Amino acid sequence: MALHRLTQIVMGVPNPEDTAAYYAEFGLIPRTGEEVTVFDATTPAPTGDHTFATVDGGEQLRIVQSARRRLVRLGVGADDPDDLDRIAASLAALGIPVERTGTAARAVDPGTGVTVQVEMASRYRQAPTPAPPYNAPGVDARTEHRAPGILREQAVRPRKLGHVVLGSTDQEFSQKFFQQGIGFKVSDTVPGLAAFMRCSTDHHNVLVQQAPVAYLHHTSWQVDDVDEVGRGATSMLARDPARHVWGLGRHHVGSNFFWYLRDPAGNFSEYYSDLDCIIDDALWKPGVWEGARGLYSWGPPPPPSFLAPEDLAAMMTGAHQPR
Ligand SMILES: [Fe+2]
Repeated sequence: MALHRLTQIVMGVPNPEDTAAYYAEFGLIPRTGEEVTVFDATTPAPTGDHTFATVDGGEQLRIVQSARRRLVRLGVGADDPDDLDRIAASLAALGIPVERTGTAARAVDPGTGVTVQVEMASRYRQAPTPAPPYNAPGVDARTEHRAPGILREQAVRPRKLGHVVLGSTDQEFSQKFFQQGIGFKVSDTVPGLAAFMRCSTDHHNVLVQQAPVAYLHHTSWQVDDVDEVGRGATSMLARDPARHVWGLGRHHVGSNFFWYLRDPAGNFSEYYSDLDCIIDDALWKPGVWEGARGLYSWGPPPPPSFLAPEDLAAMMTGAHQPR
C-alpha cells in the first residue's frame, strides 16, 4: 500500500494551555521547542505551539490556538513521490485545488474543513508487544502469579495515533475526497451516516460522519492492551471524573476496546487496543451496519453527548466562529 500511516495532526482549540496539559496527563510525551521537527519543513511550528509525541509514532499532535475547536490538519504518510502525483491528479479530477511541494500534496476537504497533507514519511516499526498470559477454562497460562495488568505502575503511554473521527456537513463528498482523492479504502459503512476508512493496515484511520457542522469528534490513541485502556482512563478520571464520556466497552465495527474522555476544549480522546487489522484487502469483507449494533458489542450504552456533543449547537449558531 502506498499510503501507510497517519503522521501528525494539528488540533486547533481556544484554550491551548489547558488542552496541552490534558494531553500530557493522557500520556503523550511533550516536546520542547528545540526538539520540534515538523514533517513538512515549509510549515514550521510557530513558537508557543504545543507538540506531543507517541512512543512509536514520533511527533503526532500539535495543538494551536483557534477560535473554536477543530481539526486543522491531518497528515498522511506515503512511500514515494509517485503517490503524491497520483493524489494530486485524483483530487484535481474531483475539482479540488491541490498545493504540491517537493515532499507533500495538500488539499482541503470542504465537508470537514480539514487540510489533508499527504507527505513522505517512514513506516512504523513497532516492537512486538508480548501478549500477557491469560487464564481461561482449560488453560492455566499464568500460575502462582498475579496478572501483569494489576501490577503495572508506570504511566500509560500511547504507542501511536490510530484514527480521527470527523463531522462533515457533506459526508458523501468527504468520503469521495478521502477514498477517490487521497486513496483511502473503505472497511465498513453505516449508510447515509458514516464510512470507516483506512490508509494503513488498521481497520480505520479516518471516520467521517454526517453532522450539522464540521468539527473534530475524537482522536484515538493505541495502547498495549485492555488493561492499559482501563489504567489510562482510571488515572485521568482520578484527576477529574467529569472527563468521562463513554467506556469501558468493545466496539463492534473495528472490534477494539475503547474508553472515551473529554479534553478541556470539548474534543473526545480515546484509548484503544486490539483493533481489527487488514493486511490482505482481498480477505476483508466490508460490512454495512445500522444503528447501535455497529457502534458497540458490549459496554454501557453510549451517552447522548457522545453521539451529539453538547457544544454542537453553539458551534452551529456561530457563537464561536472559526478564524
Ligand atoms: Fe474511535
